Amino acid sequence: MKINENISLEGQRVLLVPYNENHVSRYHEWMKSPELQQLTASEPLTLEQEHAMQRSWREDHDKCTFIILDKQLWTAPGVEEEQCMLGDVNIFLTDPTDPSLAELEIMIAEASYRGRGLGKEVTRMMMSYGVTRLGIKKFQAKIGLDNEVSVGMFKKLHFQEVSVCKVFKEVTLEMTVDEAVRTRLRDETAFMKERDYTQACRDRQELVSQ
Ligand SMILES: CC(C)(COP(=O)(O)OP(=O)(O)OC[C@H]1O[C@@H](n2cnc3c(N)ncnc32)[C@H](O)[C@@H]1OP(=O)(O)O)[C@@H](O)C(=O)NCCC(=O)NCCS
Repeated sequence: MKINENISLEGQRVLLVPYNENHVSRYHEWMKSPELQQLTASEPLTLEQEHAMQRSWREDHDKCTFIILDKQLWTAPGVEEEQCMLGDVNIFLTDPTDPSLAELEIMIAEASYRGRGLGKEVTRMMMSYGVTRLGIKKFQAKIGLDNEVSVGMFKKLHFQEVSVCKVFKEVTLEMTVDEAVRTRLRDETAFMKERDYTQACRDRQELVSQ
């Protein structure tokens, strides 16, 4: 999607930035991991295919993605942005006749960052962005039956289990965005700041060169 190509979302411990070409190489390294392939139900891609995928996430009107950065590291002097990457979060509009239905995916690729509350922080931020900027009214998450952590996280975020597909060994969880959900999301992401990404990068350069 073009809509977020110059947007950064600042959280308490993370910064969400548009998925750019300079992120592809690290992303590609992550996806060589059989564990991540299995947990995210992904096929390994060549580096060339990964670049094509990055372009498609940018161009296609039905896909919105952000790279998750370690906010504290990002503001440290001498650290390249690629070194701050810890995962990604996506919204995928699955129904061409209903742009208010979104499938949500998240990956904290760096294992040392898991289990510290970042998954919840990022998912809430992405949901808030999806509701306010993309007009999402229903979120779905399709998760491998064995992925207890992910299922646990979405349930903790008030998603309800709606179906289980034994063939694909996958559970579908959903959340309809009603007024109560909107209010809760707004309260839970009150810290979130939406910024111009280019400007945020300029400010960062100034900050770290002081
Ligand atoms: C799934 C994932 C996004 C969760 O993010 P995280 O930062 O590790 O999770 P958090 O620390 O925010 O914890 C979220 C919640 O998960 C649940 N959870 C954590 N470990 C759990 C476990 N072993 N069993 C069940 N639920 C668990 C808890 O409800 C927890 O919230 P709580 O600590 O307030 O109780 C992350 O672990 C990840 O990306 N894993 C690898 C890729 C993946 O599986 N992606 C999802 C594909 S569908």
